[in-house]
Amino acid sequence: MKKKWWHDKVAYQIYPKSFLDTNGDGIGDLKGIISRLDYLKDLGIDIIWLSPVYQSPFVDQGYDISDYYKIAEEFGTMEEFDELLAEAKKRDMYILMDLVINHCSDRHEWFQKALADPYGKYGGYFHFVKGRDGKAPSNYRSYFGGSAWEPVPGTDLYYLHMFAKEQPDLNWENPELREEIYKMINWWLDKGLAGFRIDAIINIKKDLSFPSFAPDGEDGLASCVKMVEKVNGVGEYLEDIKRHTFAKYDAFTVAEVFNMKDDELAEFIGDEGHFSSMFDFSAHTLMQGENGWHDVRRPSFKEWRDTIFSAQKRVQGIGFEANIIENHDEPRGASRFLPEYAQNEAGKKMLATASILLYGIPFIYQGQEIGMTNCRRSDISEYDDISTKDQYHEALRAGCSEAQALECCYENSRDNARTPMQWSADAGAGFTKGTPWLSINPNYVCINVEEQRNRSDSVLSYYRTLIALRKSPEYKETFTYGRFVPAYEDEDEIFAFYRVSEESSQDILVAANYGTAPVTLNLELSEGKNSGVKVLLSNKGKEREQEEQARKDGSITLNSCESVVLTF
Ligand code: GLC
Ligand code: CA
Repeated sequence: MKKKWWHDKVAYQIYPKSFLDTNGDGIGDLKGIISRLDYLKDLGIDIIWLSPVYQSPFVDQGYDISDYYKIAEEFGTMEEFDELLAEAKKRDMYILMDLVINHCSDRHEWFQKALADPYGKYGGYFHFVKGRDGKAPSNYRSYFGGSAWEPVPGTDLYYLHMFAKEQPDLNWENPELREEIYKMINWWLDKGLAGFRIDAIINIKKDLSFPSFAPDGEDGLASCVKMVEKVNGVGEYLEDIKRHTFAKYDAFTVAEVFNMKDDELAEFIGDEGHFSSMFDFSAHTLMQGENGWHDVRRPSFKEWRDTIFSAQKRVQGIGFEANIIENHDEPRGASRFLPEYAQNEAGKKMLATASILLYGIPFIYQGQEIGMTNCRRSDISEYDDISTKDQYHEALRAGCSEAQALECCYENSRDNARTPMQWSADAGAGFTKGTPWLSINPNYVCINVEEQRNRSDSVLSYYRTLIALRKSPEYKETFTYGRFVPAYEDEDEIFAFYRVSEESSQDILVAANYGTAPVTLNLELSEGKNSGVKVLLSNKGKEREQEEQARKDGSITLNSCESVVLTF
């Protein structure tokens, strides 16, 4: 594999609306981000991904862009954005923006012009298709529920929207549209962006015959993903984008890709791949219900572990995936991946240990570093997210009671991750002096940055130490390029793996006990190597004790929720 500048970096996702509000309007802003760059630097962050900050009516929280060249007023000005770039650069940090090019907002000038003249130039920027027998062209259900087709007023045409109806899909078949998008991407890269996180990109390729599929729900519709899964040829578009934009800048790109075909990994993220990286969502998709949130399954610990391990084995030698515990579309990882008895600081540190030290590029989502959790609501009106509302009603339709449907939201809602960042125990959680746009998780009084910042055994301090370990000159090579090798797989409640570097002849073992009973692991040490064991990190501060045991007995005992990182 060719070495690239981003391989050894640690990234952090900011959800701007909920990060830090500096003018009291209850909405996070660019000034807030600028004022916390030192906080992120201190944590060990190199790359910052901003969820969309472009002008938008915020029907889907900025993932509906009405002007790709403007900063949303709510967030600030272009001058402030430039200042953010400059301040990041001073600190050797890199900024990524979110690139949302499968669709735009229905308020975008292109769409407005298309509506005014459906058969004109801009009609060709979208998928305007004639209805069939007075009905929509096909039976697709959009990702947010309901038909993916919306009538174009005053015509017999419909336009395609795979997400909300306010998010019309762009027509990538159209070379003029592609040119416009490339121009825009290069305009941002010229400003000094380091790259992009690329939204929903697999959806840009459509089967223009728009075939219907066998209904997969009581609404008689079939998920539009069926078309995406079947159609071939997205790679040509992706290559074209890369060649005209990213490649010229050595930009870092990390793609949101669901439904990739199994053998396409190298094509996507190999040395010459379409992207630098893409997210590993395997653990997240494992926990999705087939028919929505009301039938989410709880996989066993082993299933979860084995899913992550398979993803690791599949990707190494090919490229780098981005490892996440959570993001703005997922519930909080501490609530989702930890059994109830482990939903405490030790458990959160244990979860962090594996995620950050896996093979790949770690992405931390805002608040994860202090162990923020899901947030309980007592009424659906307290949620903002468009897909949460859809899923709530879907659960009711499927026969759930209101209480059960709310429980589904508590466990799965995207708003769990979108509640304001908990900076302190002050009113407004140190996030705002006004009324927050989305109410704050009441547990901010105990879970917040201020409380954790100077407490040496806090989750935040642990993340700092963990990231520093990953990036330390001594171990960086192994944590970046070292092979991933599963360990102790026959132990039912142990999550363990080696990182093995031929280059530095280093072996590192990462092990965590997700069970309730203590487990003793015999270290696979070659004769006489006991004395060489070095414990690099324990989530319970038991480094000395564990090292002594390892040197004396060649074994290590992990109690419930205990993790260890050691080298020999
Ligand atoms: C991606 C985003 C999500 C958004 C969707 C539509 O999945 O992460 O937040 O709703 O695309 O843009
Ligand atoms: Ca603000």
